Amino acid sequence: MSEPGLSNLLTETRRFEPPAALAEDAIATDATYDAAAKDRLGFWAERAGELQWSRPWDEVLDWSKAPFAEWFVGGELNVSVNCVDRHVEAGNGGRVAFHWEGEPDGDRRTLTYADLLVEVSKAANALTELGVQAGDRVCVYMPMIPETVITMLACARIGAPHSVVFGGFSAQALVDRIQDADAHVVVTADGGYRRGSPSGLKPVLDEALQRCPDVRSVLVVKRTGQDVDWTEGRDVWWHDLVEKQPETHTPQAFSSEHPLFLLYTSGTTGKPKGILHTSGGYLTQVSTTHRYVFDLHPESDVYWCAADVGWVTGHSYICYGPLANGATSVLYEGTPDTPTQDRWWQIVERYGVSILYTAPTTIRTFMKWGEELPGAHDLSSLRVLGSVGEPINPEAWMWYRRVIGGERCPIVDTWWQTETGGIMITPLPGVTATKPGSAMTPFPGISVAVVDNDGTAVGNGEGGYLTLTEPWPAMLRGIWGDEERFRETYWSKFAGQYFAGDGAKKDADGDLWLLGRVDDVMNVSGHRISTTEVESALVSHPSVAEAAVVGAADETTGQGIVAFVTPKGSVADEVSSGEAFVQELRDHVAKEIGKIAKPRQILIVPELPKTRSGKIMRRLLRDVAEKRDLGDVTTLADPTVVNAIGDQMKASTAED
Ligand code: WT7
Repeated sequence: MSEPGLSNLLTETRRFEPPAALAEDAIATDATYDAAAKDRLGFWAERAGELQWSRPWDEVLDWSKAPFAEWFVGGELNVSVNCVDRHVEAGNGGRVAFHWEGEPDGDRRTLTYADLLVEVSKAANALTELGVQAGDRVCVYMPMIPETVITMLACARIGAPHSVVFGGFSAQALVDRIQDADAHVVVTADGGYRRGSPSGLKPVLDEALQRCPDVRSVLVVKRTGQDVDWTEGRDVWWHDLVEKQPETHTPQAFSSEHPLFLLYTSGTTGKPKGILHTSGGYLTQVSTTHRYVFDLHPESDVYWCAADVGWVTGHSYICYGPLANGATSVLYEGTPDTPTQDRWWQIVERYGVSILYTAPTTIRTFMKWGEELPGAHDLSSLRVLGSVGEPINPEAWMWYRRVIGGERCPIVDTWWQTETGGIMITPLPGVTATKPGSAMTPFPGISVAVVDNDGTAVGNGEGGYLTLTEPWPAMLRGIWGDEERFRETYWSKFAGQYFAGDGAKKDADGDLWLLGRVDDVMNVSGHRISTTEVESALVSHPSVAEAAVVGAADETTGQGIVAFVTPKGSVADEVSSGEAFVQELRDHVAKEIGKIAKPRQILIVPELPKTRSGKIMRRLLRDVAEKRDLGDVTTLADPTVVNAIGDQMKASTAED
């Protein structure tokens, strides 16, 4: 574990007060902070009370089995009823839930809350017909289409936890996730649209299912119309099964702690962790944060979270948070550059988007494409801008504020994780001042500390490790099937505190600056990828002897993956150092994990730098990857090795 990167400390002192116009009817006020500070559990209980419960809870929090929390103990609710039926019953059935935009221009669909209720009911009936029962895990491998959200809600409705696997993941990644969750039913599509052409999902799933004998049913949405293989008795078309179902479904209430979903994320070992989230506390926190952080006025706002539903941002802030709040959202299938680099600004203009939530990597990409593109569109509907997934550099923050937000929109930099379920550190528009690059303060009712190596809180102006010091409603309830790993990963470094894996600094005012991961987890375009996972993928190639992977600073993606590979002795030099070999290795990683894990650069080296005890010196490799001069190398078994690699690196150009 490395020390937090305190060398990155920012000295930015600019500060923006909350805009007065927004403060006038802001959802959150100073009183929100006061109430939560005075009575944390009372604050959350009041928020939970805004949901619809079939049975009230007996106890707000049971922390007696720490680190396993139970929230709203004894309470019963149905998450899909809270996201859909409730709004229809309140007379808002005609309100748009989703404006969906397919990637091919002109491909559009609008779903009201009343439409959504019908679709979710039919899908719930269909899953039941497939034999899915409460507690069964359902794997979801889908593009960004309405049926994806409909499937998640249908699973929630019948109490079957979903495990959404990002559509960019490979067959092997799917196998690992399907088997770990022991899912017997998968919902997928023939494919989706990506950069102008249909990409295949079903073919990848078919390959995966050769190694998943327990999957008995696959429900397939026809999205692209491409030819797909068909396994009779296992595969069934959505339009055959779902369309014929009754349009109503009587929901059952589940306990507050009933599992809602599993979502796999990278840890510091090769094996992804199935993060478990449950119902009542999760829904309470994601709906509350969504409303307060984005100052959501559901009757007038048009909200767009441009994440993929395959990540936690999509779960909490495309699906559950916005729907629980009765929000109107944009759902977009494709990439920002298809067919042109102003696609997003066309979408903002078309729907009058008022709240936009995206990642720094995307903002930096827009910066590269130039101000003219957003400048040519009317973006005056925007009122609040959000950022998530990685530290946002002050330059990108200022650009976002000026070019996209017209200097009038507050920027909320939201820090959280798959494990936290919902937003934890963020300014609140209309209340909190903002500073370019700072996530500012814990959300009301959330307790955060920055601690030193001994777990002691540091003072203002100091840096350390970020921890969470009190249980929170949307916290993970464990790692699927691995209680020990849950304790070890999050609760063993500092007694009684949740260790997030991030470094942080408190500035002179006590405001928080997130400094990135302090473990072997990389953050590439806001996606978490473990160095070990990529290393395992590389060494599974028959010509690779050893591999070491580091995350190196990257102007656009935050970090880029750089790999150092030693070939097996039998491989002839000209083959193993050639470009074709490097390309083959990059493709191999894509096949093993997915395209997002493809190394930016692979250096074929004769030897890896190791300490005398045989440990690979990653710190040095990171220096090499970032083309820094190498410091003290005296602990190395053979210091000449790293100098040779350094020269090789400096002579190279990163390929893409
Ligand atoms: C890791 C969690 C939160 C949903 C998307 C990523 C980094 C996240 C910020 C931010 C600095 C951030 C952290 C965290 N991170 N948001 N606003 N500022 N860093 O979820 O894949 O679980 O990754 O993303 O390093 O630990 P995730």
